[in-house]
Amino acid sequence: EKGGYDYFMLKEIAEQPKAVADTLLGRIDASGSLTLDELRIPHGVLREAQKVVIVACGTAFHAGLIAKYAIEHWTRIPCEVELASEFRYRDPILDQRTLVIAISQSGETMDTLMALRHAREQGAKVLAICNTNGSTIPRESDAVLYTHAGPEVAVASTKAFLTQLVACYLVALYLGQVRGTKWGDEIRAVIRDLSQIAGEVDRVLETMEPVRELARSLSRKNTVLFLGRHVGYPVALEGALKLKELAYMHAEGFAAGELKHGPIALIENDLPVVIVVPSPRSRSVLHDKIVSNIQEIRARGARTIVIAEEGDEAVEPYADHLIRIPATPALLQPLVATVPLQVFACELATARGNEVDQPRNLAKSVTVE
Ligand code: F6R
Repeated sequence: EKGGYDYFMLKEIAEQPKAVADTLLGRIDASGSLTLDELRIPHGVLREAQKVVIVACGTAFHAGLIAKYAIEHWTRIPCEVELASEFRYRDPILDQRTLVIAISQSGETMDTLMALRHAREQGAKVLAICNTNGSTIPRESDAVLYTHAGPEVAVASTKAFLTQLVACYLVALYLGQVRGTKWGDEIRAVIRDLSQIAGEVDRVLETMEPVRELARSLSRKNTVLFLGRHVGYPVALEGALKLKELAYMHAEGFAAGELKHGPIALIENDLPVVIVVPSPRSRSVLHDKIVSNIQEIRARGARTIVIAEEGDEAVEPYADHLIRIPATPALLQPLVATVPLQVFACELATARGNEVDQPRNLAKSVTVE
């Protein structure tokens, strides 16, 4: 049942190109537009929404953080992202013109369910992004966009995360398409790139041997830090979460711009720091800033593990280890940048003798608050 892999997690990491392609299947028409009539939310509701609020937990929350960048950029609708466990306890402002998106692989996470119930009580429309047909969260929502990752068995989420991202991009692009924004041309171009992205994920998977070697060489470390900017920031958070839950190591993700406000004090000799570098083409200001961040931490002794686009030469002098990912539109980069972090965490966990599919103290779906 593990299809020749030692762990479900390895199998599920390998299944990501297919999971991504399946989640796109039938949702882009021949003219290159999105067809999401399956949502069955009247276009009027989508056109009139004044705010989007995303609620989710853990890895799904990280997908939500990335969705915020996409939604605000392509639709200009203000978007908040909140941990489901915090949401309803702070008396959030919601009404009929709020579109709430609840993201959940299992569809049974109690915190997320309680958050969506609260949102509906306040009159908000709730769209679920979910991987499990007929589970509680989609049943209690106004609409659902299913991810087609197939069953995810390993406790640590991998392929479900990538498909949550795809679903979030679809919703963001669809909102843009329905509402008509000045980004129309960009939206069409991104839909085209999105339809090719499974192949790029596959290319990343083919180049993971050096990442595995690197992970094994770090198995006796206690701490790994992760830095990113823009959509690379949630990717850094996700890389840190994977490492905590699988390798039981202290791992933290930071927005690289925050380094100087505190975390840089953590940098010491030979501390591994993973940096997710934005594209030098479409995010050149951010790119230059992160290159200086890499220089700063390296000058203080950090061992820099740099994840950067193919062809990005500016990072080379400062990278102790360089992991290449294919060039993508800036907002789509998480689909390729997350994969090496999953492989890294999985291999480190194995090297430390941990149970990869069933990390200690964790359950696959958390049905208590
Ligand atoms: C991390 C992980 C968890 C889940 C979280 C939400 O690898 O799997 O953080 O993402 O418990 O679960 P769902 O998506 O089922 O609501």
